[in-house]
Amino acid sequence: MKRMLSGIKPTGQLTLGNYIGALRNFVNYQDDYEMFVFVANLHCITEYQDPKDLSKNLTDAIALYLACGLDPKKATIFLQTDVHAHAELGYIMACNTYLGELSRMTQFKDKTAKGEKNMTAGLYTYPCLMAADILLYNANYVPVGEDQKQHVELTRDLAQRFNNKYGETFVVPEPLINKVGARIMSLSDPSKKMSKSDETNKGCIYLLDDLALARKKIMSAVTDSIGVIQLDKENQAGLYNLIEIASSLTNRPMQDIVDEFAGQGYGKLKGYVADVVCDTLGTIQNRYNEIIHSRQIEEVLSDGAKKASAIADNTLNTAKEKIGLEIKY
Ligand code: AMP
Ligand code: TRP
Repeated sequence: MKRMLSGIKPTGQLTLGNYIGALRNFVNYQDDYEMFVFVANLHCITEYQDPKDLSKNLTDAIALYLACGLDPKKATIFLQTDVHAHAELGYIMACNTYLGELSRMTQFKDKTAKGEKNMTAGLYTYPCLMAADILLYNANYVPVGEDQKQHVELTRDLAQRFNNKYGETFVVPEPLINKVGARIMSLSDPSKKMSKSDETNKGCIYLLDDLALARKKIMSAVTDSIGVIQLDKENQAGLYNLIEIASSLTNRPMQDIVDEFAGQGYGKLKGYVADVVCDTLGTIQNRYNEIIHSRQIEEVLSDGAKKASAIADNTLNTAKEKIGLEIKY
């Protein structure tokens, strides 16, 4: 069985974009791959987080993994800091990464271009930690949304570089990106990604949003004045995004949805998208409410940490030996 690994960084509540671009795929893949899914808590603190909020978001993320259908009998689910090897290999990766490579990362460049102040060294070196996350498990595939492709590509370069310098050590992973739903856009500004850090709160649907609020966000999503239901991503980005959301959640081809609503007003289509989203959210939230009040999270994390640590420690030790970091007696 090929191995797959992915993670989410809960710097806020998980979003519909996280679900469509990442989480639902983890669930689909867990039967056919040896699956590792973790909560990337070290990645959260590259920017300051209120400690109380952070802790709550981490608990919610694990509960939502389970509520979305990840099965701890099939997938290894764990918290990044429960496996110490991540930080250690992250440092080793940083020593094999050039400053130029990190400066070329889109996320870093975007933040620099926006003139963001007080950026931390952790933010700059975060792709090295992400490479370690993946390489520790010798993952063959990394299912992610479009925005993470560049980081997985850097991971490939780092694995190859390490293998060339020190001898075959790491599996070179491949990103796995869906054709539909790899980049869900903001409902209030369809030129931007739907993101946890949405300032207006109107463009982003959170998995734990009240259903009436989620419906309202969809009904007031920005569209266009063309008024024709068709697939034109360039000129009707908002409409395209709504159809893509519904298509992802129902597994219906996008054209099928267009055919059903062609000739009708945008309101009708939005109503359908809202129904589909509320159905999905409702199911997830019911399961979330059961899980959050049980002891399941504790058990899942304790099992996951044991399984993940055994594999990660082994890879880390091999890497350290190859580098010559160990003293042989
Ligand atoms: P993050 O929340 O940045 O840790 O992202 C976790 C996963 O969700 C990554 O695989 C992202 O690519 C994916 N993701 C986040 N936002 C979106 C979005 N708007 N559309 C599709 N995938 C997304
Ligand atoms: N950097 C990813 C994000 O922000 C989260 C992440 C951390 C990740 N480590 C990973 C994703 C390893 C896949 C594999 O979305």
